Amino acid sequence: MTRVLSCIQPTGDVHLGNYLGALRNWVIGQHEKDAFHGIVDLHALTITDTPGVVGRSSLELAAMLFAVGLDPDVATVFVQSHVTEHSVLGWMMECTVSFGELSRMTQFKDKSAKREHDFVSAGLFTYPALQAADILLYDTDEVPVGEDQRQHVEITRDIALRFNHRFGDVFVLPKAVMPKAGARVMDLQDPTSKMSKSSGSDAGLINMLDEPSVILKKFKRAVTDSDTEVLFDREQKPGISNLLEILSACTGEAPEALAGTYTQYGPLKTDTGEAVIELLRPIQARYHELMTDRGELQSLLRKGAGKARTVAAATLARATTAVGMLPA
Ligand code: TYM
Repeated sequence: MTRVLSCIQPTGDVHLGNYLGALRNWVIGQHEKDAFHGIVDLHALTITDTPGVVGRSSLELAAMLFAVGLDPDVATVFVQSHVTEHSVLGWMMECTVSFGELSRMTQFKDKSAKREHDFVSAGLFTYPALQAADILLYDTDEVPVGEDQRQHVEITRDIALRFNHRFGDVFVLPKAVMPKAGARVMDLQDPTSKMSKSSGSDAGLINMLDEPSVILKKFKRAVTDSDTEVLFDREQKPGISNLLEILSACTGEAPEALAGTYTQYGPLKTDTGEAVIELLRPIQARYHELMTDRGELQSLLRKGAGKARTVAAATLARATTAVGMLPA
C-alpha cells in the first residue's frame, strides 16, 4: 500500500491555504493510502521562544486536524517530539546535506529576510534536514503538500539518494503530490505572496476559525486588479485569479469556466466568501466540540505516537546499521 506522510507546524492558527493546499488532501488520502501526519513542534521551535506556547498550539492543531476529517482510527496523527527518532535521524541528515544546498532554500531566504532584526536560529537554516528525516523515517512514497514545499521534498530526495549511495539502499525516494486547485493560495491583500501565518496583515489571511462575517468582509475587501474584466490569468490578474482558484477549490468547477460566469468583481468576491463560509462551517463546529475534551485529544495523540514510533524506530535502526554505528 502506498505510504503517505505530511506534516504541519503548530505556529498559530491554521489558514485556508493550509486547508486547500494540504489538509483536505490528507483527509481524502487516508482512505486510499497508509497515512502518517505529524504536528511538527520541533520545527516550530526554529521561530518560537515564548514559554508555554508550542504545547498549547500543538493541542489546538490536533483538534483542527481531527475536525477537518482525519480519523485517528485510520490515519496516524502524532506530535513530532513524541517520536524522538526524528531528532536522531535529523542530525544524520544534517551530516548528509551540504551548507551550499541549504543556502539555496527559498524558504530560509524568505524567513530569515523577514526576521532581519530578529533572532535567526541555526535551526531555521538546517530545517530542511529535519524535514527530510520526517519524510524518510516512514518509507514515504508520497508527500501531499502545497506548492511552497516542493523544494523541501526535492532536497529530501537528494539527501536520500546521497545517503543510499554512501551506505546502501536504506531510504525510499519520496515524491511531492499537489492538488489541482488550491496548491498556492495567495494573500487576499497581496496576491503576489502566498497566504501565510507570517504575512504582514490579518486582512489577507482567512483563518479556519474566522467568524462568517469576518470571512465575508475579508473577501469583499480583497485586492483586485486595475481593470474590470474577470479572467483567469495568474500573471496579469493575480487578485482575480486567486479568488477564482479559491472558488474553484470550493465548488470543483474549473477557474476558467467560473471566470466566464462573472462580468463584475463584486459578485465574485461575495460568492467566494460565501462558498468558503459554507466549507468551513462544519469544521468550526467539530473543532469547538473536540476542544471541550483535551484529555481525549492527548490520548489520541499518544496512540498516534505509539504507531509512528514502531515504524520510525525500524527505519532508524536500518540507517544506523548501514552506517555501521556501534549498537547500544
Ligand atoms: P506549514 O506548516 O507552513 O504548512 C502546512 C501545509 O500547508 C501548505 N500551505 C499552503 N498551501 C497552499 N497555499 C498556501 N498559501 C499555503 N501555505 C501553506 C504547505 O505546503 C504544507 O503542506 N515545512 C512544512 C512542515 C513540514 C513537513 C514535513 C511537510 C515539516 N516536516 C514533512 C511535509 C513533510 C511547513 O512549514 O508547512
